[in-house]
Amino acid sequence: MLKGKKIGLRARHEDDIPILLTELYDDPVNSSRAEGGPWRPITPGTNDSRLVPDDKDQSKVPFSVVELDGGTLVGSANLWGIDTHNRSAHIGLGLLPSCRGKGYGSDVVATLCHYGFVLRGLRRLQIETLSDNYAMLRAAERNGFVREGVLRSSAWVLGRFMDEVLLGLLAEEWKPDTPS
Ligand SMILES: CC(C)(COP(=O)(O)OP(=O)(O)OC[C@H]1O[C@@H](n2cnc3c(N)ncnc32)[C@H](O)[C@@H]1OP(=O)(O)O)[C@@H](O)C(=O)NCCC(=O)NCCS
Repeated sequence: MLKGKKIGLRARHEDDIPILLTELYDDPVNSSRAEGGPWRPITPGTNDSRLVPDDKDQSKVPFSVVELDGGTLVGSANLWGIDTHNRSAHIGLGLLPSCRGKGYGSDVVATLCHYGFVLRGLRRLQIETLSDNYAMLRAAERNGFVREGVLRSSAWVLGRFMDEVLLGLLAEEWKPDTPS
């Protein structure tokens, strides 16, 4: 397990799946805002890659997020779009509703940066999020990500187009554990 300050990132376990399905992916509002596509119900027992990782897919590393204190599942996180030629990847995460606003999101971003830069030797990490996702923007910026641009009206979300913010962090800019 990869350890942050408050959370750990570990492999997906079988009994994580029904919790993530019910609390994250069966929520049309959360899914519409976080997934970049239309919400569709997921049938229990399917092999949807958001829930059941494909270990052969080298472009994505999926994690379950757990509390370090006790090991309770609190969400899902991944490094995706891993490009070993350009040495870049994207960060994605989603916490169970009851686990938000406790500093876990910032710690997940920090731990994914450690994984990406230190364990994988990547040079650039990227995050895209809706322009009103203040918690995600703040969790990224407090880890050193900078806003590189706004993708105007790039996301159709619950009946309207919204802007997305693109944030990036380079390995040489990354300062682990720097308070901000
Ligand atoms: C976005 C998300 C991962 C952030 O994680 P979190 O644990 O809730 O965030 P944190 O508690 O680490 O807070 C990060 C910062 O945002 C601030 N923040 C938290 N919730 C906020 C809110 N609703 N509005 C404004 N700021 C907020 C915190 O005060 C903190 O700022 P600080 O460092 O200055 O104190 C989490 O809320 C989540 O899973 N949301 C739903 C899914 C999602 O949006 N995923 C991202 C898709 S790109």
